[in-house]
Amino acid sequence: MSGSKIWTVAVVGCGIGRAHIAEGYARHPDKFRVLALCDINEERLVGIGNEFSIPRRTGSFDDVLGMEDVDIVDICTPPALHVAQTLAGLAAGKQIVCEKPLAGSLAEVDRVIAAERQAPGRVMPIFQYRFGDGLQKARRIIDTGIAGKPYVASVETAWKRTPEYYETRWRGRLASELGGVLLTQAIHSHDLLTYVMGPVASVFARTATRVNAVEVEDCAAASLVMKSGALASLSATLGSHKEISRLRFCFEHVTFESSQAPYAPGDDPWEIIPSSPQAAERIADALTGYRRVPPRFEGLTDAYHCALTKGGALPVTIDDARRSLELVTALYHSAATGAAVALPIGLEHSNYRGWCSDTC
Ligand SMILES: NC(=O)c1ccc[n+]([C@@H]2O[C@H](COP(=O)([O-])OP(=O)(O)OC[C@H]3O[C@@H](n4cnc5c(N)ncnc54)[C@H](O)[C@@H]3O)[C@@H](O)[C@H]2O)c1
Repeated sequence: MSGSKIWTVAVVGCGIGRAHIAEGYARHPDKFRVLALCDINEERLVGIGNEFSIPRRTGSFDDVLGMEDVDIVDICTPPALHVAQTLAGLAAGKQIVCEKPLAGSLAEVDRVIAAERQAPGRVMPIFQYRFGDGLQKARRIIDTGIAGKPYVASVETAWKRTPEYYETRWRGRLASELGGVLLTQAIHSHDLLTYVMGPVASVFARTATRVNAVEVEDCAAASLVMKSGALASLSATLGSHKEISRLRFCFEHVTFESSQAPYAPGDDPWEIIPSSPQAAERIADALTGYRRVPPRFEGLTDAYHCALTKGGALPVTIDDARRSLELVTALYHSAATGAAVALPIGLEHSNYRGWCSDTC
């Protein structure tokens, strides 16, 4: 037992919300207690409420906001609800966890940033794939400065979604999903790209809807120039008959290659390939004393508790969510215009208030 505060949680939305509980809060009973569950789907509410013995269940988000003994509101509802629920949660004095995408535009993210500044609580968006030993070891090697100059990265999100997936009404529609594979699925891998290689300077992208009969794109390919001068290529599809996520980062003194685990790309086994025996020695030194980082929500909630309790930086910040949405904005604009798009996307950009003019 850690002996520190046990934070109370209300999980809102019982789809991925179940994984937040099963892989996250329930694995840390000395750190979190799920006090309430909220969903407008009664069957899910009762099923998951019983599965995890959650004492309070409600179909009303306002009920959750009125629960004074709830510290954290964890928002796992469909994308178009995220901003309004996050703002209402902050106004009610809660700590907020919010699933991706945090918002549907950079302007909306900036509203959340402004609201957080005035509120007692903080907002932690979700990027659980950052957690796991493969990626965390790579970050440690890069942070110690021994990787050297970044050369090139390739990032693949090759998943499969069938018509049954789109039977859930909010999916596949621009008004409710807000985007397609670039926003909903590949946003994770693209967050990992910038987490490892730093900011993006320019993108050129193409998108297509080829796999399912939906309004949003389900295939994409892009070529990027990073601010460091390194190059990157991204590809994403929902029509891969073997599901993989694959990341390859080539630096001067080391190449990193992820496993192909589609839904845990941050976890081991990663290949760490040094350029020479001397580089291998420096890498071994850098990893001396490395402590295991559990994958996905287990690692994320552990780090979240530490930040809440000690007051340090959150493991995922609104700025991280903003960076991912800025990249999405640039990718959609490039695909729509057939031109390269430079970042940052400023307040004056036609798509600062949303990419709908490109995708609708
Ligand atoms: N981090 C990840 O790996 C990951 C994985 C899947 C989904 N997601 C994200 O999580 C969000 C939810 O996706 P999902 O796949 O769980 O969807 P889902 O449709 O399976 O679940 C959403 C739940 O929210 C409930 N809901 C809808 N409106 C509500 C309201 N006003 N109040 C309370 N409950 C309400 C629905 O009844 C449903 O049970 C999306 O933004 C999605 O992109 C993230």
